[in-house]
Amino acid sequence: MHDTKHLLAAARLIPVLTIERAEDAVPLAQALVAGGVKTLEITLRTPAAAKAAALIRANVPEAIVGLGTVCSEEDLRLAADLDLPFAFSPGGTPKLYEAAARLGVAFIPGVATASELMVALENGIDCCKLFPAESVGGINLLKSLAGPFLTAKFCPTGGITEASAPLYLALPNVLAVGGSWLTPAADIRAGNWAAITERAKASMTKLG
Ligand code: 3PG
Repeated sequence: MHDTKHLLAAARLIPVLTIERAEDAVPLAQALVAGGVKTLEITLRTPAAAKAAALIRANVPEAIVGLGTVCSEEDLRLAADLDLPFAFSPGGTPKLYEAAARLGVAFIPGVATASELMVALENGIDCCKLFPAESVGGINLLKSLAGPFLTAKFCPTGGITEASAPLYLALPNVLAVGGSWLTPAADIRAGNWAAITERAKASMTKLG
């Protein structure tokens, strides 16, 4: 199974992509890769999502594409069938933990509290998404969780911006941050790939 800690640490910035038209998938991924952003989360929020992930996997070899908004065993099966290296969920349920282990999917559950993190740890997962990061306490919550949970690492998402991303990444228990700011829906709809590349470059530069 893929090592999610290593994958997130290498990525640092993971755009959360909601793709309405499958034909946008490849140019969008190419635009992000050209801006230095290679690890991409395709959310399962649109009918085109699975096809978009498959197209990127097949046509953009520099991209490391996984799924997001994974909420059922069926969703995990998509990740397994496409041999994708990670699957983010907004939460974590006993059924998802069991299915992810059985299917061999590198599952990154969402947690928002110490108890939810403890459930992830009980299931052998110490690399989680903090979701929705800004709403549940953001940087202060991550600092608080660092005390009791020495091994836990996070990819916060939800409300993170180009300005706040470096502040999150400065925390020792944050490996990567996710967000949708890199890919505004209007730019995707208009095929404004150059703007997406520029935004990706600017965000990566701010991370230092
Ligand atoms: C999500 O799942 O929608 C992500 O957390 C992205 O959140 P954002 O749109 O606030 O960046």
